[in-house]
Amino acid sequence: MSGLRTLGEFVVEKQADFPHASGDLSSLLASIRLAAKIVNREINKAGLVDITGAVGTENVQGEAQQKLDLYANEKFKAALEARDQVCGVASEEEDETVSFDRDKNQHAKYVVLMDPLDGSSNIDVNVSVGTIFSIYRRVSPVGTPPTLEDFLQPGHKQVAAGYVIYGSSTMLVYTTGAGVNGFTYDPSLGTFCLSHENMMIPDVGKIYSINEGNYIRFPKGVKKYIKYCQENVPEDGRPYTSRYIGSLVSDFHRNLLKGGIYMYPSTQSHPDGKLRLLYECNPMAFLAEQAGGTASDGKRRIMDIDPKELHERVPFFCGSKEMVAKVEQFIAENPED
Ligand code: AHG
Ligand code: MN
Ligand code: MN
Repeated sequence: MSGLRTLGEFVVEKQADFPHASGDLSSLLASIRLAAKIVNREINKAGLVDITGAVGTENVQGEAQQKLDLYANEKFKAALEARDQVCGVASEEEDETVSFDRDKNQHAKYVVLMDPLDGSSNIDVNVSVGTIFSIYRRVSPVGTPPTLEDFLQPGHKQVAAGYVIYGSSTMLVYTTGAGVNGFTYDPSLGTFCLSHENMMIPDVGKIYSINEGNYIRFPKGVKKYIKYCQENVPEDGRPYTSRYIGSLVSDFHRNLLKGGIYMYPSTQSHPDGKLRLLYECNPMAFLAEQAGGTASDGKRRIMDIDPKELHERVPFFCGSKEMVAKVEQFIAENPED
């Protein structure tokens, strides 16, 4: 704990360190904070009211939409539109980009890309889920509607990114490129308070997180890395451990605190992996790098990839830097036929 500071105060205090400081980003983060509180409230009563389960529709990627996916999507959009810093959003739950048409929005500098509810299939079983967000400056002229180009920027252009984890406690973790800080929600105050200042991921960890049910379909290098983790014992004598929640935010959060690697490689059914470059991988990559870790598609730095389409997927290896380097080495040594 580092004194008692709220997220709002912290953002304003850090604004001066931010290269484009104008207060706009602070206001944008206030929208995210508000929507996070609203979604948190809804998630907390998930077992009590009729908000769990699927809606019966699919998103553009063919995945069943949950009621809370759509709820979170609407709340984040509404909060972002209500202020004047964002001209449009792209969301995992929307087929196309959404342009806000108020004149004030079109004069806004930023676009937001988001996974409004990550790990949503876990909601029904009371397991932690999250929201992931990624913020860019638009490249199209201010005063006009946003264009696809504004959203298809490589991850290294992000000005801020973060996630909210709705877990045993709710936290908001974000970066603006000057380290990673985490804030825990105090429901009695209705406020996020700084609880994890300057978060750093250990260079080596013991946790590997992967859906091993897909083992047979993984590339050879990934299979070998998994065997490496199972057969080797790190220096302090305690073996590697496998942990997989199935909600990226939760798996990433645990590994960030404890050290570890999250992997979602290509499989036969998902040749480009399952995770989305723009809504999931880039923001997590930005956070990982800012915390001293790395993120790769197995060969390339995630944040150097030039996105070609909105819902693009990519294999994802992210976390402690020595662990990511090791799996990259196995992949390089075992090219696919
Ligand atoms: P979403 O709920 O936003 O569709 O994301 C689910 C993602 C990610 O959170 C998780 O790590 C991964 O899918 C789990 O996939 P598998 O069930 O295939 O392991
Ligand atoms: Mn997701
Ligand atoms: Mn989602």
